[in-house]
Amino acid sequence: MSARARLLLLALPVVLGLAIAGLLPGRALAAPKHPGRVVAEKAQCNRCHPITGGLPAFKREMHCVDCHTWILGTKGDAAAIAKQREAFPDWDRYLESIVHFTRLPDLGTLARRVRPGALRAYLDAPYDLRPHLEESMIPVRLSAREKDALVDWLAGLAGPAVATDAPDTHADPAGAGPLTTDRIAAGRETFVQKGCPTCHVFGNVRFQPGFDAAFYKAMGPAAQLAPNLRFARERLPRAVFLRFVQDPRAVDPAVTMPALGVTPAEAERLADFVYGADPELSAPLPAAAPEVPVLSRPVPFDEVYDEVLGKICVHCHMDPAINDGDGGAGNTGGLTYPGKRLALESYAGLARGLRRDGKRVSVTTPGPNGEPPLLLAALLRRHREAARDQRPAFGDHAGLATAAAPDPQAPGMPLGLPALGVAQLSLIKTWLAQGAPGPVE
Ligand code: HEC
Ligand code: HEC
Ligand code: HEC
Ligand code: HEC
Repeated sequence: MSARARLLLLALPVVLGLAIAGLLPGRALAAPKHPGRVVAEKAQCNRCHPITGGLPAFKREMHCVDCHTWILGTKGDAAAIAKQREAFPDWDRYLESIVHFTRLPDLGTLARRVRPGALRAYLDAPYDLRPHLEESMIPVRLSAREKDALVDWLAGLAGPAVATDAPDTHADPAGAGPLTTDRIAAGRETFVQKGCPTCHVFGNVRFQPGFDAAFYKAMGPAAQLAPNLRFARERLPRAVFLRFVQDPRAVDPAVTMPALGVTPAEAERLADFVYGADPELSAPLPAAAPEVPVLSRPVPFDEVYDEVLGKICVHCHMDPAINDGDGGAGNTGGLTYPGKRLALESYAGLARGLRRDGKRVSVTTPGPNGEPPLLLAALLRRHREAARDQRPAFGDHAGLATAAAPDPQAPGMPLGLPALGVAQLSLIKTWLAQGAPGPVE
């Protein structure tokens, strides 16, 4: 039985409970749902994001974040770990292997600070807003009308506190006119003095030596969700920014940013910097695929499975037979995708390929004109997407928010996760070139 199947079994009473609750009368009398809420439910946004005041969390046994944090929540608690080990012998390995999908922004309160227009643009073309978070917002297969409805719903959840799309003026309160280089320079000093760079990057501006990607990683959860502040001028109205930096939680109760004792005058200076400074972006990255060498040694299926498929892909390409009917988004569907009927939990599943137009199509053989097998093609697409939605701290470039967005009709793999490194791609490419052999008995 797979790890997921065991966890599912444990949660069965919850599922039954929910099923029974769904049968209760009363439910039928609920007010009509906002169309955006209907879309969010269908799209399973609450399978990753909290949506305070909007939608209850998706059930834990399918919730990417809640299941992971439930497991990681036993870290350091010897008694709890011992108890879980009885049902799940590999519990200790889980604690080591889970790193992604542990914390995501709350969509329920977001529109209190972020302009609806910015949210809408983000749904069309997500980009790497949070450089310390490796996972990415997935491209979603939704119509323009569905995305409009979603944003309208999210703005409604913010209530009267909603941030508006009205343009900003930067005339300073004392009437000193538009943003000047002096004002921006003074703002930069305040930005450093208040410690903002300990969690935030601002484009590629280097405030202090030693503040590199490793430093932010070491900051852990405190900085993990901190956005790249060079996008703030598009996202937050200046007036909201001023309130937010003085008391973040008064604006958005879901944020983890601490109040830093910022005075109104300091807030104005911080805004001058954030709205006026040059983020020192590098040139747009070329969309070239990486050089992937073919190895000269044999690569067995087991190695491909251990290093890639079993580690990363099975979570969305499961075998429904051993997972309570759920094959994951890439197999039986979910996250706005109908599913490709592609199971990657065994060689047999992989060898069956995917289903297209009612027919089985191989993912391991080259196309008729020598195109790479679909498996490799999907992994290389993710590499191209990563130039936009997966940039490390100080890897910001001028094309980030304008480069072609991931195509929801042909998303790169692994969906929402970092592109595979060249070493992993090399394994796959070599194994495919060797005829995609099955496991040796
Ligand atoms: C598989 C997990 C996953 C699902 C499902 C998902 N998201 Fe996201 N979303 C993310 C991640 C990861 C980020 C953070 C990316 C970043 O900030 O760099 C994100 C970011 C966002 C943001 C930007 C947050 C901000 O601060 O402005 C919005 C808006 C958003 N998601 C909306 C949605 C909506 C609406 C849905 C449902 C249609 C959805 N997401 C479904 C993973 C997910
Ligand atoms: C029922 C609990 C559960 C749910 C729900 C769940 N996971 Fe996991 N996830 C796990 C466990 C357990 C591991 C560690 C597996 C191992 O070590 O064999 C894991 C590991 C992972 C990993 C590899 C480690 C890492 O952090 O990169 C990825 C990727 C992943 N999960 C993605 C997802 C995604 C995406 C979803 C939602 C579609 C999801 N998971 C839902 C339990 C869950
Ligand atoms: C301890 C880490 C930390 C420090 C220090 C910090 N922030 Fe933040 N900040 C965060 C986090 C985390 C978020 C995002 C919360 C979320 O999206 O849930 C955030 C969000 C923001 C936002 C909203 C940005 C957006 O695009 O949504 C602004 C603006 C901001 N911070 C400004 C500042 C300024 C200015 C300073 C210095 C006075 C500062 N922060 C210091 C952690 C920090
Ligand atoms: C978070 C969920 C998720 C993860 C993780 C994931 N996939 Fe997928 N995968 C999907 C979805 C959803 C689709 C269907 C996309 C569509 O309908 O176009 C898909 C489709 C595919 C396809 C079919 C592409 C085509 O040409 O139609 C391949 C191949 C694939 N995935 C391989 C992988 C591999 C290899 C990994 C691990 C490196 C992986 N996936 C990880 C969700 C995921």
